[in-house]
Amino acid sequence: MTDVFLNGKFIAADEAKVSVLDRGFVFGDGVYEVIPVYDGHCFKLKSHLERLQNSLDESRIVNPYSEKHWETVLNKLINLHLGGDQVLYIQVTRGVAARDHVFPENTNPTVFVMSNLMQVVPVKYKKNGISAISLKDSRWQRCNIKSTSLLPNCLLKQQAKDAGAEEALLISDGYLTEGSTSNAYAVIDGVIYTAPKSGKILAGITREVVISLASKAGIRLIEEPVAEFKLTDVDELWTSSSTKEVLPITRLNGVKVGEGIPGPVWQKIDALYQHAKAEERNDG
Ligand code: PDD
Repeated sequence: MTDVFLNGKFIAADEAKVSVLDRGFVFGDGVYEVIPVYDGHCFKLKSHLERLQNSLDESRIVNPYSEKHWETVLNKLINLHLGGDQVLYIQVTRGVAARDHVFPENTNPTVFVMSNLMQVVPVKYKKNGISAISLKDSRWQRCNIKSTSLLPNCLLKQQAKDAGAEEALLISDGYLTEGSTSNAYAVIDGVIYTAPKSGKILAGITREVVISLASKAGIRLIEEPVAEFKLTDVDELWTSSSTKEVLPITRLNGVKVGEGIPGPVWQKIDALYQHAKAEERNDG
C-alpha cells in the first residue's frame, strides 16, 4: 500500500485516518495544492508553496510548516515513491473541532500529502485539441483561494463531461474567467489574452509559466478578460493546469475554434513548455 503523509507521519494510505469532526470533512474548510514532479523534481515548487501560503492566509489558517519543512516532507514522499513523474497533492484543513461555523480556538491544522503517478496527457488532446462548452460561472468571488470546497467546480466539470466535452469555460458578467479545472486563454490576431488575477480566477502556476514563456518568446500577452460574444471569433483557445499542461481547445459548444486544429501560437508555447519541463528533469 502506498505511503501518504498525515500529521507528521508517513503511513500506508489505508491506515491514514482523519476524524469525522475534521472541518475539512464537515465544512470543506481547507485549502490544497497540486504540484507536478518530473524525474523526482518538483516543478515550480516555490510558486506552489507561495500560493499555499496565500490560500492559508486568506482562509485565516496558520501555516503549520516552514518552507524548508514542506520541502523535506515532499521530497521524502517523492523518494518513497521512487522518484519518476508524480503529482503531489497537499491538503491543509483548519483541523478537528465540535461543529460550529465560528473558527475553533487552539486547534491544530490537519496536514495531508499524497503522491500519485502522473497521468500522461493523451496524445490526441495535443494532436486534435479538446472540446469545451461555455457555462455560467456559478462559483464564489474568492476563487483565488485554492479551497477544497470544490462542489461548484465538480458540478461544472461533470456538466462538460455529460455534454461530451473535456472542459467547461466559465462566463461571469459576460466575460471568460477560466475553466472549471484550468486557466483559459484566447488568441486574437497573434495576441494572447487571459483574465487578470482577481477573486474570479485561481492564479495558476502554469499560467505564470505561460506568461513568462510568452514574454521570452516576444509574443504579446495581455491580462484582460475576453468578452463571451468574442469567443466565436477568436483564432485559438487554450486551457492550462499543472496536470494537463497547456491544451488547445478546438471546439467550443460544438463549433470549430479558428481552423478547428491546434493553432501556431499554442504550438510555440507548448514547445517552450516542454523545453522548460525537460530543463527541470535535467537540473531540477
Ligand atoms: N487545478 N483554475 C482552476 C479552477 C483549477 O482547478 C486549476 C488547477 C487551475 C490551474 O492551476 P495550476 O496551473 O496551478 O495547476 C486554474 C488542479 C490541477 C486541481 O484541482 O486538480
